Amino acid sequence: MKLKDQVAVITGGARGNGLAIAKALAAEGCNVVLADICEGIDSVPYPLSTKETLDAAVAEVGGMGVKALGIVCDVRSAASVQAMVDEVLAKCGGKIDILINNAGITSLVPVAEMDEATWDDTLDTHLKGTFLCSHHVVPHMIEAHSGKVVSISSVGGQRGFGMGSHYCAAKHGIIGFSKSLAMEVADHNINVNVVCPGTVWTDMMSGLAEYFGMEQDEAKEQFCEGHLFKDREITPDDVAQAVLWLCLPESRNVTGNMITVDSGWTAAAG
Ligand SMILES: NC(=O)c1ccc[n+]([C@@H]2O[C@H](COP(=O)([O-])OP(=O)(O)OC[C@H]3O[C@@H](n4cnc5c(N)ncnc54)[C@H](O)[C@@H]3O)[C@@H](O)[C@H]2O)c1
Repeated sequence: MKLKDQVAVITGGARGNGLAIAKALAAEGCNVVLADICEGIDSVPYPLSTKETLDAAVAEVGGMGVKALGIVCDVRSAASVQAMVDEVLAKCGGKIDILINNAGITSLVPVAEMDEATWDDTLDTHLKGTFLCSHHVVPHMIEAHSGKVVSISSVGGQRGFGMGSHYCAAKHGIIGFSKSLAMEVADHNINVNVVCPGTVWTDMMSGLAEYFGMEQDEAKEQFCEGHLFKDREITPDDVAQAVLWLCLPESRNVTGNMITVDSGWTAAAG
């Protein structure tokens, strides 16, 4: 158990990649806090998690023998993030060892047709949310002279996607933000890294396909077209194992960097 008695906060932890990350950390003995918005956002064309989704996730992770706590939190809001961090500190021994910035939304809209709310919600969830959570958690890591921050970017953080300018801008931003934060906190023994997944068939992707009236299998084939391994999908567990490694002592000399779990997509896109 390499993370026994540590405390991890995972934003967007109620389902998908976030829940898989929580389970991977819990399997190493880490106590986990799942922070999730638990309601829809008008500009997002598919349902987000509900309180029931969060409660079920907490029960599942708690069943692994670690402490699991669910907190309703909108990472777009400084007040909501501050309240979430205060609650974690009060209930989990006054420390946060690991922060996973995973909360995310997406939509497909051309720039010429995009309204301001779609742009703002996307940038605020991914990029401002990553800033706000880091801003409120990192001081406690500095005090402890120890910490790991892992943020979830995307292949869309390394290349563009038509109709995904808002998503790609936010995901590119997370990489620049993380490199800069890594420089600021290395003296405090804090590692800051990024994981960039290719297409993972979570509720985000199936919800998007449904919104556009696409058959799930057809949509999956289209969205995974860039993957080099045609005989296997990228799963939330694949993403979670990369995140886990970045939280373990073995990766102590990796910071300001990223792991791309994309089935070779970006290698072939140059
Ligand atoms: N699925 C993919 O193909 C893929 C690829 C690359 C990167 N990612 C990234 O992985 C992360 C997780 O995505 P997923 O595929 O598991 O999607 P998902 O929709 O299944 O899960 C995202 C979770 O984030 C929560 N959330 C959304 N907005 C929030 C907010 N403002 N505050 C707090 N919680 C919020 C949702 O309720 C949901 O539980 C995202 O950052 C996403 O961009 C996903």
